[in-house]
Amino acid sequence: MTETVAFPQDRTCPYHPAPAYDPLRGKRPLARVTLYDGRPVWFVTGHAVARDLLSDQRLSTDSTHKSFPVPSERFIALRANRRSALLGVDDPEHNVQRRMVIPSFSVKHIANLRPRIQRTVDGLLDAMIEQGPPGELVTAFALPVPSIVICELLGVPYADHEFFEDRSRRILRGPRPQDALEAREELDRYIGDLVDRKHADPGEGLLDELIARQSAKGRYDKEEVVALATILLIAGHETTANMISLGTFTLLRHPEKLAELRADPALLPAAIEELLRFLSIADGMLRVATEDIDVAGTTIRAGDGVIFSTSVINRDGDVYPDPDTLDWSRPVRHHLAFGYGIHQCLGQNLARAEMEIALGTLFGRLPDLRLAAPAEDIPFKPGDTIQGMLELPVAW
Ligand code: HEM
Repeated sequence: MTETVAFPQDRTCPYHPAPAYDPLRGKRPLARVTLYDGRPVWFVTGHAVARDLLSDQRLSTDSTHKSFPVPSERFIALRANRRSALLGVDDPEHNVQRRMVIPSFSVKHIANLRPRIQRTVDGLLDAMIEQGPPGELVTAFALPVPSIVICELLGVPYADHEFFEDRSRRILRGPRPQDALEAREELDRYIGDLVDRKHADPGEGLLDELIARQSAKGRYDKEEVVALATILLIAGHETTANMISLGTFTLLRHPEKLAELRADPALLPAAIEELLRFLSIADGMLRVATEDIDVAGTTIRAGDGVIFSTSVINRDGDVYPDPDTLDWSRPVRHHLAFGYGIHQCLGQNLARAEMEIALGTLFGRLPDLRLAAPAEDIPFKPGDTIQGMLELPVAW
């Protein structure tokens, strides 16, 4: 009998893979899951096969493909008639778009942003400390850090943050498909107007540079700039905010690991990598096969859906001994928390800098930081979205 585990599943502890995936964790490298409409799809669980498949151009991220795996009804509404950028576009178009934006996310460019990120972090902590304790870390710190930074990088006014944070939240986990669709339309209109204003009256930021460069070449493509702006704005704040909130929660729940970090702050970069592996917040990368692919003694047929569960892959015991424990000393750099292959996270250097500065400064300045509610009562996000804390009440 075949397993009928449904995808996606909710976690029961915010930092461990959903227990419903447990029967599949032993089935490496490939298992099967069913989507909400009963459709069976592949579920990649093995680390080596995941890397092979994520580098295989016969797997597409084109969400308008008729056989693309659809994890929820909300997703159907969102992909309808919409121009995508980067994720959602295959090469060669993907490569052209990636080359347009990659210099702004290079190691060197992000290193230059570090003093600015540090000032943002310091300012937010000053305000939180002045108003508390207690405090709510998601609103006061985890969300505004990446949100302010991506706004400055793109040239989006941070004054509009409540609007775009709310619409992003509803797109990623709106209560009903219609709600997600409306939020997407409102965000599209907002970004379209912003891009028009920038076209007429350029300011400073990556979006302004993109418009100027395209216009200079006589190929200004508003829809493409809007699609790029949308993914960069959403991915740029939601993901890192979740890593900061869930990373803080996880460290507070592992006081011995936090003590090691406090004793030797030079461990921080390694700890961030291990937290990325352990938390695997982007838990479910979606692909459709465009041709038959022979892999691990089986054949993925053209039209089959393929899901990569980062939480399961990043706990492959063949690669990470004792995978369910946090270990700052393990060689961890090749985890798949940022994906792999041509779509590997564009913002990873930025995300690392933000996490290092945010977590390092938070725990450095507040040595008595602690949860202000029982851990079991603190709400976290459901399984069909990026994982993270919904709230994080803290005291110090
Ligand atoms: C810790 C935080 C982050 C995590 C865990 C994360 C995770 C990921 C993952 C897993 C992918 C690959 C998805 C796939 O292949 O299906 C991805 C792609 C992407 N990420 Fe991130 N991300 C983070 C932060 C950021 C930031 C700060 C940005 C800034 C703009 C960003 C922008 C992107 C973009 C544009 C892509 C698509 C790249 C492409 O298709 O070429 N991410 N991210």
